[in-house]
Amino acid sequence: MPGTAAAPGTSALPDRPAETLALLPVVGGATRVPLVDGTSRVYANLDYAASAPALEAVADRVNEVLPLYASVHRGAGYLSQVSTALYESARTTIGRFVGAREDDVTIVTRNTTDSLNLLAGCVPGDVLVLDLEHHANLLPWQRRGATVLEVAGTVAATLDALRAALAAHPYALVAVSGASNVTGESLPVAEVVALAHAAGTRVAVDGAQLVPHRGFSLARSGADYVAFSGHKTYAPFGAGALVGRRDWLDAGEPYLAGGGAVRDVRPDRVVWTTAPARHEAGSPNVIGAIALAAACDTLAALPDGALAAHERALRDRLVDGLQAIDGVEVVRLWADSADPVGVVTFSVAGHDPGLVAAYLSAEHGIGVRDGRFCAHPLLARLGVPAGAIRASVGVGTEGEFVERLLGAVAAYLADGPRARYVVVDGCWQVEADSRPLIQVGGLAALAATAAAACGPALD
Ligand code: ALA
Repeated sequence: MPGTAAAPGTSALPDRPAETLALLPVVGGATRVPLVDGTSRVYANLDYAASAPALEAVADRVNEVLPLYASVHRGAGYLSQVSTALYESARTTIGRFVGAREDDVTIVTRNTTDSLNLLAGCVPGDVLVLDLEHHANLLPWQRRGATVLEVAGTVAATLDALRAALAAHPYALVAVSGASNVTGESLPVAEVVALAHAAGTRVAVDGAQLVPHRGFSLARSGADYVAFSGHKTYAPFGAGALVGRRDWLDAGEPYLAGGGAVRDVRPDRVVWTTAPARHEAGSPNVIGAIALAAACDTLAALPDGALAAHERALRDRLVDGLQAIDGVEVVRLWADSADPVGVVTFSVAGHDPGLVAAYLSAEHGIGVRDGRFCAHPLLARLGVPAGAIRASVGVGTEGEFVERLLGAVAAYLADGPRARYVVVDGCWQVEADSRPLIQVGGLAALAATAAAACGPALD
């Protein structure tokens, strides 16, 4: 049944991937969306890599704490004390979820981009980064003059290139993706750490696509920093995190100048405080942090291996099913990469990815992302510089969603779309779209914003 989930602690994996249930209940798991033929279907959300729905446990926690919400770090009132305790407890939970060591600092940020920009202001030396990165883990470094290393054709050759680059120059930091937001693949983090540390270089991991889907531990991997996002970790309330070594974060340029980040201010001088407060000026996102901590607790409570097994089954079916369709190509970076997460990018030969994505939505109720996925150098390297289509899964994904996508892509290639589509402001849309709007306030501008929200405009 749509919108159901396996009971926590039980297996959601039947013998047939098509019958896979959601691993955890998510808010909106049974939301229906209108189709161009006048019917509606449960939304097949295959866009978790962009933003994942809230876990029901997260929404429950937010509702529980909202009546207790008050100012933090500043108030003597009872609820200010309660909110401060909840915020600081959330910080501890978030750090524990990513295996923070005793002296690591957890800074609450807005998202991965924010975390990596913050870190970029604190690194006391040169930075090395690979050209496969999402812009969040490329542009903050490129802006401060980082060396951008080309990935090689295999994982092994890329590790060799990394080793050679680290030997040729004393880098303070290498920043690597924990899992690509385009292919789901990654370099083995522990091996990157070993060769970086041997060269005296620290490692920052962009955990945006890794932490919610496989978990991650700073202590076990030996990495020095990890950044991740609440909106991809089933807690879309505006918080993310940067967790890692204290020394650079204590000494680095305060990320925001303002109240809460200082010890003392005179007209002619400022004494900044240490991390995490040093980088959290202004009133923090208390509810966002508590929501993220609730997501961390819920994911951490899953039986060992359940999260990875759920996503592997869905990914394997997606890849096998797409590859079996003539005219569809799944893009991969490396033939020798191990255990990619549930992010699969594909192209349909001779067909605009924006048109295919619009068809999947309008005729099948499927949400995917198309475009260049904020990873322009990587899309060029993968041979799809004009963009592709991406399907991504998570704890709320059911096997039926994957089957629906495979059937829809096959039907598109066999019969073509049933509706007519046009390009408006660079974005594919249904011509004379008569689908009724979902009944919720604020949709008057949907037609105008649909164009602004499409892949090529913002990716
Ligand atoms: N970074 C998100 C993505 O890859 C938005 O789609």
